[in-house]
Amino acid sequence: MGGTIDPAVVVEVESLRKALHHHNYRYHVLDDPEISDAEYDRMLQRLIRLEERHPQLARADSPSARVGAPALSRFGTVAHSHTMLSLDNAFNDEDILEFDRRVKRQLNRDEEIVYTAEPKMDGVAVELVYEHGKLVTASTRGDGVTGEVITANVCTIGAVPLVMQAEGLAGAPARLEVRGEVFIGIDAFKELNRQRIRHELPPFANPRNAAAGSLRQLDSRITARRLLDIFFYGIGIVTDAVFESHWQLLQALKTWGFPINPLIRPQVAIRKVLAFYRELSHMRGQLPYDIDGMVVKVDSLALQQQLGATTRSPRWAIAYKFAAMQESTVLEDIEVQVGRTGVLTPVAHLKPIRVGGATVSRATLHNEDEIEKKDIRIGDTVLVQRAGDVIPEVVKVIASLRSGAEQKFFMPKTCPACGVAVLRLKGEAATRCVNSSCPAQVKERIKHFASKGAFDIDGLGDKLVEQLVDNGLLNSYADIFDLDEAVLSGLERMGTKSAQNLIRAVEGRKRISFSRFLYALGIRHVGEHGAMLLAKHFSSIEALSECSQEDLTAIEGIGPVVAESVAGFFRQQKNRAIIQQLMENGVQVDYEAVAITDRLAGKTFVLTGTLKTMTRQQAKEVLVTAGATVSSTVSRNTDFVVAGDAPGSKLDRARQLGVTVIDEQSLRDMLS
Ligand code: IVH
Repeated sequence: MGGTIDPAVVVEVESLRKALHHHNYRYHVLDDPEISDAEYDRMLQRLIRLEERHPQLARADSPSARVGAPALSRFGTVAHSHTMLSLDNAFNDEDILEFDRRVKRQLNRDEEIVYTAEPKMDGVAVELVYEHGKLVTASTRGDGVTGEVITANVCTIGAVPLVMQAEGLAGAPARLEVRGEVFIGIDAFKELNRQRIRHELPPFANPRNAAAGSLRQLDSRITARRLLDIFFYGIGIVTDAVFESHWQLLQALKTWGFPINPLIRPQVAIRKVLAFYRELSHMRGQLPYDIDGMVVKVDSLALQQQLGATTRSPRWAIAYKFAAMQESTVLEDIEVQVGRTGVLTPVAHLKPIRVGGATVSRATLHNEDEIEKKDIRIGDTVLVQRAGDVIPEVVKVIASLRSGAEQKFFMPKTCPACGVAVLRLKGEAATRCVNSSCPAQVKERIKHFASKGAFDIDGLGDKLVEQLVDNGLLNSYADIFDLDEAVLSGLERMGTKSAQNLIRAVEGRKRISFSRFLYALGIRHVGEHGAMLLAKHFSSIEALSECSQEDLTAIEGIGPVVAESVAGFFRQQKNRAIIQQLMENGVQVDYEAVAITDRLAGKTFVLTGTLKTMTRQQAKEVLVTAGATVSSTVSRNTDFVVAGDAPGSKLDRARQLGVTVIDEQSLRDMLS
């Protein structure tokens, strides 16, 4: 401690810092890391150790600041040199067109205005001040005039440059006040809430609250664990630099090391701005972070200056908000549905309400415990949330609106579909109907059997399955291959043509691969992947049906739960009889089809768009057969995105993350 330091240590500390700043920039701004996360961590840990051993080398802008500092007793405040304004809101296309007309009117111009349109991040606004390229202060927006100093917390955000990227800092401005939105990605948010629930802490209601809560942690070591992220979208002031347009400014920020949202649509006419809004609304559910709209900005800085601002917001920008994803409505009733495996799921019937652009009238309540925990009663006004493509959920009850007439819900003692007594096992959240002939279960099993990943029978939709079971024409999925065209065509809502088509579709599906066949059986806990593993291991359905639970557990990838379920399925005479009937009705299982290789073992693929020579399902099958994993969402862990015709937002996401995109031909090359 103190005294002289070995010059070699000084050199090492300096070179570690320089390298860490550089790798941080590669990772967060260029999305093109040169080293692995583990390697980065090793370097960072080494730096921290050296700084601990030689405290005189400590510096505020050292990458070691990422791990946080001991708790403060309170935050200081700072005045923003330029007020951090808010934005006016638009809620429909007409509001945006009116904004465009107003801009032209104020500027006294007829020609088209050039705009830059950006995703509106749903996070927390911050301002960071850099002096000669070094981060000196970070603050919240506060009331726009004065904010709280949260420098230590902001330093922990990996995407924040502690030192600007500029040649020897000679190129860095003397002062830069840069603004952006701190947010927490959806995955990090979910993980954070899982941890909080484990530690019996209340979960955050949404990612924005989680980000705000994390930024206001007095102990920045806690903030550091929260995996906050940031995109920058503007400045307060900058010295020594002149820009002509907002887009040019964003580009400069990027070269200085500030991450800019790659989805930003630069320099377009108002018509394209509206088109971009539609694109963003479609992407919204797939993005790895929450956005709550689009921000439209007049691109020319000279025109921005001319337009000026009101006390509240600039006249050169507007926020076009998305429909809210949460709304309140009345929960009118709770219905109990019975699933394929007999699980009873309480479903809320809601007074129909528009949420995030769609009408919602049902929401899942998961199970009895969930209703109990949230104290949901029939007649309550509840907050309903839609997130991405998932089934709407009841977030919470608005207890202040209770009249006292609300009724408590009790799980039924008997199955609502078959009347047999239900069972809830100790340690399980689910209540089950254990009658495997229960008509509700039979319907769900048949729907699963006919679904895309299974027998994929065109024309045998949910409604028709229900009708056929109710009419006694289907008692199990084996009866599908026994359906009679004449009887079918006599059914309500079914003509000769549809009956003919259905029979043809059924006939065309009699040959099936072993793995699909196993998946179609609907054995509890056996998904597409498990079915694939079993199909690979056994030479026939007979061999599988004779296998003991112990032997099944010995198969790689098959755990005790799956093994027990599979063995249990084949122990039941009824299931064996149905399989027998399937064979008698002409189903042919193709045992040759499964030849699993490990050519693509460990690789993760995501498919998007329409492929020419195979369906997505077929592509998925061949990939899984070759050892790959097929996921529905693109993340940093994705190895390849296969893009067909008219690809969706997954392609944008892949580009954004720098994931390799390949076409169908390259996929075929990989597989052959
Ligand atoms: S520009 C004076 N751009 O939205 C204009 N704001 O409702 C300053 N926000 O406080 C804002 N994404 O926290 C701008 N791309 C973006 C944004 C954005 C999110 C937030 C920001 C601001 C609020 C205004």
